[in-house]
Amino acid sequence: MKEDIHRELRQIVTQIKGHLRYQKELGINTLLSQKKKRPVLDLNVVRREIGECTRCRLHEGRNHLVFGEGTPHARLVFVGEGPGRDEDLQGKPFVGRAGELLTRIIEAIDLTREEVYIANIVKCRPPNNRDPRPDEIQACLPFLLKQLEVIRPKIICALGTFAAQTLLETEEKISALRGRFHSYHGAKLMPTYHPAFLLRNPQFKKHVWEDMKQIRKEYKKR
Ligand code: URA
Repeated sequence: MKEDIHRELRQIVTQIKGHLRYQKELGINTLLSQKKKRPVLDLNVVRREIGECTRCRLHEGRNHLVFGEGTPHARLVFVGEGPGRDEDLQGKPFVGRAGELLTRIIEAIDLTREEVYIANIVKCRPPNNRDPRPDEIQACLPFLLKQLEVIRPKIICALGTFAAQTLLETEEKISALRGRFHSYHGAKLMPTYHPAFLLRNPQFKKHVWEDMKQIRKEYKKR
């Protein structure tokens, strides 16, 4: 009886070995080279961790926390400054006039909003659209960094002085930062002018177009 079981087991092992040899000959190495697993962190987990946030004073005046929007598989992520009035009311990033322009910019490089991810440095609207303060950024930025860690985009486009300076930890002007890629934790980061700035200064659109063409070229590389 015991011998029967042993014989059967030996036969099974021999069959598996033969099968693996056959697969190897075919160039299939599935058991040996499984794709490296991503960390068990997803955007819903990050969202849950933020919860009904009261970590900084910006929660006091908010209607909605604006987490971010788009595909978690995005190869391109846009990062703005913080929600404005429309975004606060709708709970979505870049849905006001600046958002309409951003949508057109995304479409100009043959993509859609659904194919990218859009987020901000802070997730609640600063009163009267003032710049977010250092303690507000300190409270909020870790969650954007976690979102970027989950998405792992190839390219990040920092929209405006504030996003560019915060992510790159520099005080250099946007006019000096834009126009070239900067290394950012394994991604390529392109700073460019903020769409709201372009609405007030349309003569800068040509520079943004130059930056976007570089992004499109990089995006198309596999
Ligand atoms: N401006 C930003 O920086 N972010 C938004 O979501 C909207 C306007």
